[in-house]
Amino acid sequence: MSSIKVIGSGKLKGEIKIQGSKNAALPIIAATVLNKGVTILRNCPRILDVFHMINVLKELGCITNWEGSTLIVDTTTITSTKVSESSVQKMRSSILFLGALLGRNQEVSIAYPGGCSIGKRPIDYHLDSIKSMNVSQEFLGEDKSIIYCHTDKVMGSDIFLKFPSVGATQNVILTAVLAEGVTRIFNAAREPEVFELCNFLVSAGARICGKGTAFIEVEGVNRLHDVDYRLSPDRIVAGTYMAAVAAAGGEVILLDAPTRQIESVIRVLDKIGCSIKTTDEYMRISCNRRPLPYDMLKTQPYPGFPTDMQSQLMSVLCLANGKSTIVEEIFESRFQNVNELKKMGAMIAETENKAIVSGVMHLEGAQVIAHDLRAGAALVIAAVAAQGETIIREATSIERGYEDICRDFNSLGANVRYCSNNIL
Ligand code: EPZ
Repeated sequence: MSSIKVIGSGKLKGEIKIQGSKNAALPIIAATVLNKGVTILRNCPRILDVFHMINVLKELGCITNWEGSTLIVDTTTITSTKVSESSVQKMRSSILFLGALLGRNQEVSIAYPGGCSIGKRPIDYHLDSIKSMNVSQEFLGEDKSIIYCHTDKVMGSDIFLKFPSVGATQNVILTAVLAEGVTRIFNAAREPEVFELCNFLVSAGARICGKGTAFIEVEGVNRLHDVDYRLSPDRIVAGTYMAAVAAAGGEVILLDAPTRQIESVIRVLDKIGCSIKTTDEYMRISCNRRPLPYDMLKTQPYPGFPTDMQSQLMSVLCLANGKSTIVEEIFESRFQNVNELKKMGAMIAETENKAIVSGVMHLEGAQVIAHDLRAGAALVIAAVAAQGETIIREATSIERGYEDICRDFNSLGANVRYCSNNIL
């Protein structure tokens, strides 16, 4: 388990290119199973979560290889429909192979994904929806932790989601693409990553309309074909570096930033004092003042403010000249950074899903722990803006979503290094 050492270095300056989207890559990697052929996935981020999904593909008998940031997947042959418990425990997004393998082979055996530090993360919406598509489900194993789904034929169905769950929407789409008949999803998630999965599938021959809206209709087809697809840049990685400028000050240019997908983040950063200029090629963000407080920041399903940016904004608002309120509406325990930021001198009062952040003039370096990938990235932001040295332990989780957060911050003038625990 590696750690990250940060020496607070003040203002950031420079430019970085935003990596491909993790949360678009993961469902699309699962979706490659629906095609008996070859998929070329360009601008694919080389991150731990992608490596885990590739390992599942290999478990299933597929062949993969990298050419730079291009992932080439050959799913001509599938030799298994079992997704191992270790794979699912390591990577909850493996659950998306449920829909993909049902679509391809009409059967799948997969372990229940565990919860994680941000919440229990059940999959009832996934299972209830897929059951209505003529799919029977059995729960096997001593602790009933293995889900075995099978059917003679997946049938299209009307699906009403209680909540616009990103994963459940994606799993239903994956199940529906090769089904018989039409599947209509009501209250579908509108996140850009759902839009992108539909984009990818349509370019491979699927028939989907309503992508990016709350009503998605999938008309089953007999087969998909090979496709060469380029992933969009990662909106949360872009938002992370924007938040770092808001916290530490300076001026940064983000190349290949998905500006239209982070409108809600741009609005918040603009309101707390950043100046942001966007063009089709790049985004320039600068902040040369102490951040202003933000009255009420609530996380919402897209196009609202994304929960995956909540920790990063909390780091920024710790330095604001006033009081801000953050309400986490999506996950039940996504305030793990509160105690870590307090070790750095932050003043935060937390009740249930609400955090009241009273800004301080500066944060002090400290020893802190990264509880999940976004919380870890948010601690790097706080440490870069802080005075003194910070050690962020259990930093491996950051590598799940960021190709090289140290390289990126150092290219902006920060002092951020990986270091193994035994030299601390
Ligand atoms: C996706 O997770 C993202 N992950 C998450 O990003 C993101 O935070 C989340 O969407 C919300 O935007 C990927 O895309 C790989 P949900 P997902 O189903 O699909 C509850 C990151 O840091 N729920 O929309 O799992 C659930 O517990 C990660 O990149 C059920 O109750 O999110 C949560 O409270 C973190 N039953 C809420 O819905 C279900 O069957 C939203 O979950 C499914 C979900």
